[in-house]
Amino acid sequence: MKSTLVVLALAVSASTVAIAQTPPPYQPGMGDLMVTIVQPRHLKLGLAGQARNWDYADYAQHELEEALETVEKHIPKWRNLDIGQLMAATVKQPLEEVEKAVKAKNAVAFDAAYRQVTEACNACHRSANLPAIVIKVPDASAFPNQEFRVTRP
Ligand code: HEC
Repeated sequence: MKSTLVVLALAVSASTVAIAQTPPPYQPGMGDLMVTIVQPRHLKLGLAGQARNWDYADYAQHELEEALETVEKHIPKWRNLDIGQLMAATVKQPLEEVEKAVKAKNAVAFDAAYRQVTEACNACHRSANLPAIVIKVPDASAFPNQEFRVTRP
């Protein structure tokens, strides 16, 4: 009888310790999401388009779209701003233009639409009172271990 109680007491205190040690879930902030999932996908899409690598550009366009949707879903409000509304007013339309250009394998249309996406990133940064965050069309790869050119016919 006594030993059963001791075992029970040990089991209870062990589970209490386990709960106390569970770290809080990781909740990246807006700036974290921007530099980790949005910025690299914007860059990769730009490099794919510059290389006229339409198969990869198609993939990269969707990944960038999804990254922005993830931001909107997890941070619906940033300070006093409605992020969904701002996404709709800035990047949504130009991203659809990129998608069309990629599907049509139209280099001139891609370049124009990609510049618009980039300008839309900055439009939102200005709306958020962060005009110092200036995104540009990439002029170099930050991924020396990835091939962006078409390697297959
Ligand atoms: C709906 C609004 C919105 C859109 C669209 C948006 N951003 Fe942002 N971005 C923000 C906000 C707000 C911050 C500041 C976050 C903070 O400081 O916590 C930010 C910060 C950043 C930063 C961090 C700057 C730094 O140097 O650390 C980068 C990089 C960035 N955005 C890239 C992009 C790119 C690339 C796009 C377009 C594909 C984009 N953003 C589109 C709202 C937006």
